[in-house]
Amino acid sequence: MAANEERSVGIVMNGVTGRMGYRQHLVRSILAIREQGGLRLPDGTVLRPEPILVGRNESKLASIAKEHGLDRWTTDLDEALKAPGAEIYFDAQVTSRRVDGVKKAVAAGLHVYTEKPTAEDTETALELARIVNAAGVKAGVVQDKLFLPGLLKLKRLVDGGFFGRILSVRGEFGYWVFEGDWQEAQRPSWNYRAEDGGGIIIDMFCHWRYVLEEIFGPVRSVQALAATHIPERVGEDEQPYTCTADDAAYGIFELDGGIVAQVNSSWTTRVFRDELVEFQVDGTEGSAVAGLRRCRVQHRSTTPKPVWNPDLPATEDFRSQWQEVPDNADFDNGFKAQWEMFLRHVAADEPFPWDFLAGARGVQLAELGLRSAREGRRIAIPELTL
Ligand SMILES: NC(=O)c1ccc[n+]([C@@H]2O[C@H](COP(=O)([O-])OP(=O)(O)OC[C@H]3O[C@@H](n4cnc5c(N)ncnc54)[C@H](O)[C@@H]3O)[C@@H](O)[C@H]2O)c1
Repeated sequence: MAANEERSVGIVMNGVTGRMGYRQHLVRSILAIREQGGLRLPDGTVLRPEPILVGRNESKLASIAKEHGLDRWTTDLDEALKAPGAEIYFDAQVTSRRVDGVKKAVAAGLHVYTEKPTAEDTETALELARIVNAAGVKAGVVQDKLFLPGLLKLKRLVDGGFFGRILSVRGEFGYWVFEGDWQEAQRPSWNYRAEDGGGIIIDMFCHWRYVLEEIFGPVRSVQALAATHIPERVGEDEQPYTCTADDAAYGIFELDGGIVAQVNSSWTTRVFRDELVEFQVDGTEGSAVAGLRRCRVQHRSTTPKPVWNPDLPATEDFRSQWQEVPDNADFDNGFKAQWEMFLRHVAADEPFPWDFLAGARGVQLAELGLRSAREGRRIAIPELTL
C-alpha cells in the first residue's frame, strides 16, 4: 500500500463493559489510537482501528457506544466475528469465559489478543496455545506490567549492570478492597469466588512470571502461602456471599543465579508505600526501589552504615538517602503501547514476543503456586513446551 494511505482494522472487543475492557483497552488504548490519528506502519500506511463492541448487557453497550460516538456493537459474539472487516478478536471477559471466546474467534479465522490469564489451568492454557498455533493466526497476551515506567527504569538499571550481582527482589503489591457492606467494593465479586475463576494467585502470579523473567531471569521454583483473610463479602447484588478464593498470597520464587524473589500480593492490606506495587532489588553494587512510575536507587558508595540501637530514635532519614532515576524517555500508557505492538504485528508482521505459550507460562506459575499452598511445600517449575 502506498505511503499515507489509510486502512482500517476491525477489532471485536469482548467484555468491553468490564473494568479492564472499558477503561484500559477501549478508552485508553483503542480510542486513544484513533484520537491520535491512527497508527503509522513502517510503509507509511495509517492503520485505523474500528472497534466492534461485544458484551452481555445491551443497554450498557449502547450507552458506551453513544458516549464515544461508535456505532458497531452487539450482544451476539458469533455475529460480531462475522462482521465485515473484523480481523482481530480481543477478550477481556471474566477469565472463566476466555477459552470459549478465543476458540470461536480462531475458528472464525481472526487474530486473537487477550487479557491474562488465558485459562484457569495450565493444561487448558496449553491446549489453547496449540489451537491458536495450529490455526496460524497472530496471537498475543496482555503483559502490561512490563510497560510500567517504574519497571522500564528498573530493567534499564539491570541491563546497565547497576546492581552488580543481584541477590534478592522483594515485591509488595496490594491495597484494601472494601468488603462491600458499608462501602461498595472496588473490585468485582467474582474475584473472591474460586468457582467463578477468582483468587489473587491466578490474578497476580501470571504477572509475576513475566515481570520476574523479563527483568531478572527464569523462575525455577515457587513456594506460596495462600489465605482467605475475609471469609464473607457483599456482592454487586447487595447480598452476602462466601469467599472461596484466596485474597492474599505470600510467595517465594527462586530465580536463576540464586536470586530470591519474595512477593506479597494482597487485597487485604492498607497502603503505607508510595505506590500500589513496589519492588526492592538488592545487589552487591547497589539497590533500587521501583514502583508503577518511580524508581529510586542507592549505590554502594552512598550506602549509610546504620547501627542497631533500639534505645535511640532513628538518627537518619533513610528514605532521603535514595536518588531518583530520571525518565529519559516518554512513557505512554502500557496497555496502549502493547496494543500498538500487537497491531503492528498483525498489519506489518513485526515481532510480538508475548504469545499464548507465554500466557500459559503465567497460568503455570499460578497453578503451581496454588498447589504449593495446598501441599505446604516448594515446587520446581518444569519447562512448558507446545
Ligand atoms: N492486565 C491487568 O492488569 C488486569 C487487571 C485486572 C483484570 N484483568 C483481567 O481482565 C479480565 C476482566 O477483569 P475485570 O476486572 O475487568 O472484570 P469485570 O468483572 O469488571 O468485567 C468482566 C467482563 O466480562 C463480562 N462477563 C461475561 N460473562 C460474565 C459472567 N458470567 N460474570 C461476570 N462478567 C461476565 C462482563 O460483562 C464484563 O464485561 C479478567 O480475566 C482479569 O484477570 C487484567
